[in-house]
Amino acid sequence: MKSLCNLPVRIAGLGAYVPDKVLDNSMLEQMVDTTDEWIVRRTGIKERRIAAPRQATSDLAAAAGRKALKAAGLAARDVDAVILCTCTPDHVFPATACIVQTAIGAVNAFGYDLQAACSGFLFGLMQGAALIDSGMAENVLVIGAETLSRFTDWEDRSSCILFGDGAGAALLQKESAPGGGEVVFCEMGGDAARADILEVPAGGSRLVASEETVRQRRHYMQLQGREVFKLAVGKLGELVDTLEEKTGVDMKDISLIIPHQSNERIIRSVCDRAGLPQERAYMNIERMGNTSAASIPIAMEQAVGEGKLKRGDIALLLAFGGGLTWGATLLRY
Ligand code: COA
Repeated sequence: MKSLCNLPVRIAGLGAYVPDKVLDNSMLEQMVDTTDEWIVRRTGIKERRIAAPRQATSDLAAAAGRKALKAAGLAARDVDAVILCTCTPDHVFPATACIVQTAIGAVNAFGYDLQAACSGFLFGLMQGAALIDSGMAENVLVIGAETLSRFTDWEDRSSCILFGDGAGAALLQKESAPGGGEVVFCEMGGDAARADILEVPAGGSRLVASEETVRQRRHYMQLQGREVFKLAVGKLGELVDTLEEKTGVDMKDISLIIPHQSNERIIRSVCDRAGLPQERAYMNIERMGNTSAASIPIAMEQAVGEGKLKRGDIALLLAFGGGLTWGATLLRY
């Protein structure tokens, strides 16, 4: 296998946290004009988790981050950088990463937020690995965390069925053992030409918050699901082609595909188009819904817990989301 990135960086510990509150499809039937049967058939989702009123994104992120540190056996004061991938930060500023740093006691770290919507965790993984490979950091905590429920229009049946809250974290370190953990390859991209199909239009400097923006529900996610669906399947298929061309990897050497959990049908279509065996695609969308930047690290943590991802395995991570943004990462776990 030819490695383009070839960064000797390993995931030393994974952690995940999801809120206790479960919102299942039968509860959504009471809120909007939908049915459990429609949601399961069109998305694969049966339930999702919703943050408690007192919980913000930093609370979920800190809980996942602490678990990743524990799994890695590392003290918080030894963390050099915290990269918090989120599109639902606590505030416009300060950065949610700084709040997380203080909450977990990472007093010697610097931290920043990374906004690439559903592709955020893959962008963060790439940056964390590059920081370590360059020698600028030894221990980097990359967290994907979201409270999408706060930006969901609970009156819009075409979008509110999709999203959930949660956080996942990975502690990255340099790999010294030959044949150990490695970021084998990564390819990222973005293009705002079709940004309008998935956005929260108001609340930034383009469209500041006003009584009118609130009345028009412009602070909630606006989604053209069918358009996103088509573009996601096409772009993720292209990414797999690029990966095959540039690395020469044989798809049968990939132990597990961990795609962003956007829609079961998107995942199955990408697998079919790319000739990836569907049974090797890890899915927890049935229980979690789409948790944006948190979905891949939560899925990784669960896959490891279930024995589906083991040390030495080659995993393919795939993401597509708002921006629009996309990414593919091939790593040896
Ligand atoms: N319950 C029942 N009917 C619903 C519904 C719901 N929750 N939501 C939409 N419908 C209806 C529509 O009104 C439409 O009715 P019509 O044919 O009478 O106009 C019909 O179902 C089909 O709608 P459509 O939007 O074409 O459905 P779809 O098969 O594309 O599924 C999504 C909709 C949103 C599930 C799907 O497009 C999707 O998952 N897209 C990507 C999600 C995404 O953007 N995620 C974030 C970035 S990763």
